[in-house]
Amino acid sequence: MPDQPRDAAEQGGATEHGGATERGGAAEAGGAAQPAAALTDFLRRFPAYDASAIDALRATEYERLDRLGHTYLDCTGAGLYAESQLRRHLELLRDGVYGNPHSQSPTALAATELAAGARSAVRRFFNAPDNEFEIVFTANASGALKLVGESYPFAPGGVYLLSYDNHNSVNGIREFATRKGAAVSYIPVREEDLRLDETQVLLALRGAGRDGPKLFAYPAQSNFSGAQHPLEWVAQARALGWDVIVDCAAFAPTNRIDAHAIGADFIPISFYKVFGYPTGAGCLIARRETLAKLRRPWFAGGTITLASVQEEEWYHLAPGATGFEDGTIDFLGLPAVTFGIEHVEAVGIDKIHDRVCALGCWLLEELQALTHSDGSPLVKVFGPKDGECRGATIALHLLDPDGRPYDVYDVEAAAARERISIRSGCFCNPGDGEVAHRITHDDMERCFSDPAAAMTLLQCQRTIEDATGTVPNTIRVSLGIASDFADVHRFVRFAGSYRDRRQG
Ligand SMILES: Cc1ncc(COP(=O)(O)O)c(C=O)c1O
Repeated sequence: MPDQPRDAAEQGGATEHGGATERGGAAEAGGAAQPAAALTDFLRRFPAYDASAIDALRATEYERLDRLGHTYLDCTGAGLYAESQLRRHLELLRDGVYGNPHSQSPTALAATELAAGARSAVRRFFNAPDNEFEIVFTANASGALKLVGESYPFAPGGVYLLSYDNHNSVNGIREFATRKGAAVSYIPVREEDLRLDETQVLLALRGAGRDGPKLFAYPAQSNFSGAQHPLEWVAQARALGWDVIVDCAAFAPTNRIDAHAIGADFIPISFYKVFGYPTGAGCLIARRETLAKLRRPWFAGGTITLASVQEEEWYHLAPGATGFEDGTIDFLGLPAVTFGIEHVEAVGIDKIHDRVCALGCWLLEELQALTHSDGSPLVKVFGPKDGECRGATIALHLLDPDGRPYDVYDVEAAAARERISIRSGCFCNPGDGEVAHRITHDDMERCFSDPAAAMTLLQCQRTIEDATGTVPNTIRVSLGIASDFADVHRFVRFAGSYRDRRQG
């Protein structure tokens, strides 16, 4: 497809991005108002919206979006990088000589210094002081979670307790737990808003795992529904003897994370979700004393102080983060983490948070106000229906006038034809999807009854749809640092184009 800029009216030009206020008008029934009127209405409803600073960045640092005509609405999938991050990284690589950091040569020491700089930027950005936390560099959030799962001292009598709305990289830790004889227990989310019931959480924390190590895991923000959960549960769980993973992969891009205040034992992060680049780096923010309880199932180059081939048990694991960073760290990628953090710090994470919340709330309200001409709703939102305690990640179906969802993959393809990037499927979050679409245990069993035939996600979805008539997959729209009003307006218009459209 040729690269085409968005048309000027749609884009709103400099005025719309710059947040002009002289426009007026009302939303049209069943579709978005014209961009100018809609912007005026938006600014009236969200007067604290800070248009100027980030809109200016959009025109410079993220200029490629509009030049290439993209409406990028998959920020929970991956964040976007600013051009200056690339420039600074390229300059650093071009003007330096860096060797493998595992030695004392000048080039090795230069690489060691870059890694140290990245580690201290991560500490600063997430307020993870050195005397309390280790920063373990990993390939991504999944790598951070695997480190915990494979090394946690699960044992008979212990338990792995987790919420339904975890990402599969958190769900997967149950494999390590069951293999070591620990119980696995899930806390369901409520169907109406995909939130956790606090009473149920506290009951589970008080009731489970009296006789062994116990690990509790939940996301600060669901990557499916955007629902945010109380971070106060961390202290309550720890007071009851739990070690706690708070998965911040979907929360970090638009929320301030204060590791010291949250107090969790483990926080996994993927950096590309926060600032787009680099894509091969993440970290585990780990409490020192809890990290010391972990037992790694192997050792590798870089993780030991000493090993011998003459006796199998002769090796000493290096203390702290070093013992968890297998092989050579991404020493040329890590300075890009420093630049990414500095970029977000310069913009201001609180500013990003407030702006994205305003755009997300407007989008949520506008989508839920869309109707067909007979008054039936055009959009069904799964998860929180208002802006309270949620991120700008919205899970939805577009419904026809008879209340039947349009095929999510067809919708994704139609959006793609307009260069709108959205996501459809289950987003590696089966728990939220199963509750949202009322998929029962018996329904799911159809997809697992024949262990020899490993079904794909698509086959499973079609099987359930054929058997139950329920569409078990979802559309997701998500905002981030570079999102602007034109993006959300464009999506409301796209959704509104389904008005009165009948299905065969
Ligand atoms: C909440 C959450 N946790 C963990 C992950 C895993 O991240 P990665 O694929 O970068 O390892 C994701 C990715 O989407 C996520 O949204």
